[in-house]
Amino acid sequence: MKKYELPDELMFLRNSKTEQKKSDASMKGKVVVLTGATSGVGLEALKQLAKGEATVVMVARNLEKAKNVREAILSKHPCDIDIVVADFSELSHIRHAASEILDRYDRIDVLINCAGMHSTKATYTPEGFETVFFVNHLASFLFTQLLLDRMILSAPSRILHINSEGHRFNGLDINDLDWKKRHYTGLRGYGASKTAQLLTMWEMADQLKDRGVTINAMHPGDVRSNIGKNNGWLYRMFSRFFIQPMLKDPKISGEAIYYLVADAQMEGVSGKFYHLTIEEIPAKHALDRSLGKQLYDLSVKLTNPK
Ligand SMILES: NC(=O)c1ccc[n+]([C@@H]2O[C@H](COP(=O)([O-])OP(=O)(O)OC[C@H]3O[C@@H](n4cnc5c(N)ncnc54)[C@H](OP(=O)(O)O)[C@@H]3O)[C@@H](O)[C@H]2O)c1
Repeated sequence: MKKYELPDELMFLRNSKTEQKKSDASMKGKVVVLTGATSGVGLEALKQLAKGEATVVMVARNLEKAKNVREAILSKHPCDIDIVVADFSELSHIRHAASEILDRYDRIDVLINCAGMHSTKATYTPEGFETVFFVNHLASFLFTQLLLDRMILSAPSRILHINSEGHRFNGLDINDLDWKKRHYTGLRGYGASKTAQLLTMWEMADQLKDRGVTINAMHPGDVRSNIGKNNGWLYRMFSRFFIQPMLKDPKISGEAIYYLVADAQMEGVSGKFYHLTIEEIPAKHALDRSLGKQLYDLSVKLTNPK
């Protein structure tokens, strides 16, 4: 029987059912900086990293929550877990977190940008950025830039963005990043932020060629987590009763992230998008290199890393 080939845009449907790769490589002696480790996908990544004996620096906005997570993990895996506090909706917090990490660690082997959110309404950060665009894209952009020199010195090193198939909901308009001129919807706002992260990633992958630092992005599966809990009761009810029951165990996200940052098969691999561990072609709009260059420059201007 002739095998039916899906168009590129729909390959994620097949990839979500494909058997995924796993790694049992050791990360002993490696320093991993991980944002968003207090919940969902990031928490599962933290469990795998602890099992692999990495030294993990959790960057979290809620110290008490982070301490409880650390305690629970340490009761199962004796490993090093450090905590740096930062709210990734504020530029000054991101700068402060990066400078604390640079003071405490003379090497950074892996950076995993996992902190992220979804909002049904446009809200604004204290500095006036649309919050989802800021937390999902500008925060990880700035944080990566601030840690980059140390990662180059620590080469070979790896950066992984926890991106999303949600980039396909594209709502990116470079002339209206703050949604002041258009009607905001949660899916398009989320799509804009994840598209922006991908567009700037191709630029960074080119810049980092021959520097020993790889940068990739992945969709962590469609898994149970707390995403969207910041939204109103109607959304939360809908999510609890109709969305969450359809989703998978987030353990698969942790295992996939571990494979991408730890396994020897990923050595030197850069500038790719993965559905869990399967390489995939992102949506066309997220591959527009001319837009990517403009957005990279704008992201530098807005966050001022140097
Ligand atoms: N779940 C999925 O199926 C799925 C699919 C595609 C992509 N993703 C991506 O996976 C990543 C993790 O999401 P999740 O589903 O695991 O959601 P989650 O359970 O809500 O976890 C989000 C994490 O990000 C942190 N965070 C959010 N806003 C922050 C801020 N302003 N400053 C600092 N930290 C902040 C949260 O901290 P608190 O614990 O303090 O809230 C939490 O640790 C996101 O980038 C998301 O877009 C998830």
